[in-house]
Amino acid sequence: MARGKPTILVGITGGIGAYKSCELVRLLQKRGFRVKVVMTEAATRFVTPLTFRTLTGEPVAVSLWADEPESKVHHISLAEEADVMAIVPCTANVMAKLAQGRADDMLTTTALATEAPLVIAPAMNTHMWRKETTRRNVEVLRARGAVFVEPGTGELACGDVGEGRLADVRIIANAIETEALRSRDLVGVHVLVTAGGTQEPIDPVRFIGNHSSGKTGFAIAEEAARRGARVSLITGPVSLPDPFNCEVVRVQTALQMRAAVLARFDTTDVVVMSAAVADFRPAAMSADKIKKGDAPEAIELERNPDILAELGERGSGVLLVGFAAETNEVVTNAQAKLEAKRVDLIVANDVSDPSMGFGTEHNKVYYVTADGVDETPVLGKRTIARDLLDRVAALLQSRKG
Ligand code: PMT
Repeated sequence: MARGKPTILVGITGGIGAYKSCELVRLLQKRGFRVKVVMTEAATRFVTPLTFRTLTGEPVAVSLWADEPESKVHHISLAEEADVMAIVPCTANVMAKLAQGRADDMLTTTALATEAPLVIAPAMNTHMWRKETTRRNVEVLRARGAVFVEPGTGELACGDVGEGRLADVRIIANAIETEALRSRDLVGVHVLVTAGGTQEPIDPVRFIGNHSSGKTGFAIAEEAARRGARVSLITGPVSLPDPFNCEVVRVQTALQMRAAVLARFDTTDVVVMSAAVADFRPAAMSADKIKKGDAPEAIELERNPDILAELGERGSGVLLVGFAAETNEVVTNAQAKLEAKRVDLIVANDVSDPSMGFGTEHNKVYYVTADGVDETPVLGKRTIARDLLDRVAALLQSRKG
């Protein structure tokens, strides 16, 4: 990711709205951004690359094959340079390719390679915009964290009147600017995130555990890293790949998680405890697999340390965010945890609903602080991660005064 003047990579696809991207490029430059352009072949039928080359003073990428040789593979260097990638206008076809992860030209290859936030401003005929397949593609991309600037209503190039017109370029520029500011708001901040559930062994093959998939914590770690934070992710056993640019520590038990957290706590600015830490562990672990005939009548349990409460007790000035998995009286119980564990913010969720919380892609949460409670609608976990880190960034800012 670029440092210095933020770089916006504007991707232009083949729609009549492509001419409005000229204005967008100028607007972004006026707002202090460096702008680079990547176009599909179809887009060059509407506006020439020369126009954008002249506006930006930068080479315009179109083909994977024909450009001048670069020191680095071109789509990768573009992908890495971008602080934000914005596809304006985005056709139904390119949206479908993005949703499927297809990469068959310079624009889609760069979009797949970049870690930068993606802003998509679709423009198409009303019927295409309303089609079930297009709606699904929008949802898939939203769930992956893409920000959509919805098309407006009006007269379309095809003569129809309805939804599908490219949104006002000032609104698109605002959305891009918001993402660009976000992409740096945690630079210099060390964020420690815990994720997944701990496993407390009974014997070498059995354990006490829970259904946490790690999706929530991994999304938070990934988003924090994307916004410039130094991230340590301490995770219980989950089947997710390491997020980009994070220190990842894989542990099994609550005691191991505690040790990994405490080892990093002194250099940490923010702790987000999204892990489902087991409150109890078997008092003794059998060295060998317990045979069916030798099964004990009961397993004696011992209390695990409460990692978050221990951090709260220290009163260290580190910003502490806890989660609360509740099945009833969600807010009241979360408020009690906020106080008992002496944390700044509790993200409470109702885990009695099997469609949300543990293992799912979506969740609905309550942000509980000493100042009050904010309730969200059902959102993708990446959107929750983004929203939560907006709140963390604001809290850090208010502490600075
Ligand atoms: O991983 P996913 O599938 O995406 O699921 C997400 C989630 C449901 C696990 C997540 O949204 C969530 O609710 N995480 C917290 C689960 C939990 O342990 O809640 P709790 O109410 O029991 O604990 C309250 C807080 O204390 C939590 O921040 C927890 O990490 C912490 N804790 C709990 C016990 C313990 N021994 N030590 C702790 O630090």
